[in-house]
Amino acid sequence: VHASPNFTQNALRPGFVEFAFGEPDPTLLPVELIGTVARHAIETYGAGAISYGRPEGPAVLREEIARRVAAREGCVAAANCVMITGGNSQGLDLALTVFTRPGDVVLVESPTYNLALGIMRDRGVETVAVPLDDDGLEVGALEALLSGLRSAGRRVRMLYTIPTFHNPTGVSLALGRRRRLLALAADRDLIVVEDDVYRELAYDGEAPPSLWSLAPEAPVVRLGSFSKSLAPGLRVGWVNARPDLLSRLVAAGVLESGGCVSQYAATVAARVLAEGAYDAHIIGLRRAYASRRDALAAALREHLPSGCHFAVPAGGFFLWLSLPAGLTASRLLPFAERCGVAFAPGVRFSCDGDDRRLRLAFCLYDEAALAEGALRLASAIRTAESGCD
Ligand SMILES: Cc1ncc(COP(=O)(O)O)c(C=O)c1O
Repeated sequence: VHASPNFTQNALRPGFVEFAFGEPDPTLLPVELIGTVARHAIETYGAGAISYGRPEGPAVLREEIARRVAAREGCVAAANCVMITGGNSQGLDLALTVFTRPGDVVLVESPTYNLALGIMRDRGVETVAVPLDDDGLEVGALEALLSGLRSAGRRVRMLYTIPTFHNPTGVSLALGRRRRLLALAADRDLIVVEDDVYRELAYDGEAPPSLWSLAPEAPVVRLGSFSKSLAPGLRVGWVNARPDLLSRLVAAGVLESGGCVSQYAATVAARVLAEGAYDAHIIGLRRAYASRRDALAAALREHLPSGCHFAVPAGGFFLWLSLPAGLTASRLLPFAERCGVAFAPGVRFSCDGDDRRLRLAFCLYDEAALAEGALRLASAIRTAESGCD
């Protein structure tokens, strides 16, 4: 059974190679596994699976996550450092609700995940951009900005960052910078919301250690998610944070009223972990997405005109491509669409209007389609550069 367009968030245009969407390929979603464990969840937990849940989420999943995090990230993660969310988007929304008030400044990388900016807009906070380079967030620039804003009387409570397999650039924060960031956050009482949605999708060895695992006593709210590594429609993720921060999230009014935001799906995720199916699934995903990444990178190297540059990301879903001088991604897009290929222009992710780059997602198509997309993109760049359409 295929995902019907009536059910899915993004509609793919027939005949197009859509590089714009960073979502798991539906053909790689574990439909049979979820069908089986969903039945097991009801058999195992009975009415508990479909009752109002505890605000912090079902203990079975919190314990499974604590065990997995401890085993894989080498830090003690008691279940009281875990709460269940409805995915990273809901976790970010909750953190903004609890830790900020309208008018506050939230520091963000530029570029950053564009749809996180929408969640911040809805919470009435102002975003201020921190630059990022090939080693991730520039911690020195962050420190200077924080000092400047606070001396100007602004309330700056939070940094939102994607330190591992960043969306859109694919870069990861260097270890030394991770430590400096943690020291700064502790020293200046800055809550770091660590969006860790791509951690499991590491293609060249293991992902770098999370900020949270490096300093569980620091003011870090690590957002984990099953969206990319299992199924986004489950809407299940989690927060790791020290108990004083976590208890403030758990006390949110929306959870007091409705209980766990994804009670049933959380019990389904718990069965995936408890039955030992999660790691095998992730191994398959890593293999599939790494092969797609490599196929796209090879085709781009072969076909792109000079003046285009990219680095091969070590994980995640995205390749961040710079265009030849003078060509912006937004100007290129209509040329690309005429060639049957689309992408996300860099301006969508930047806080300062920079549009010299574009984001290519390699998650949605097989190797042959990705190679065809690269060929079309290269031809669109040549046409756009020559100034004629
Ligand atoms: C950086 C980042 N954060 C969060 C999300 C959404 O995560 P979730 O499905 O867990 O809400 C995405 C999805 O594209 C993402 O790229």
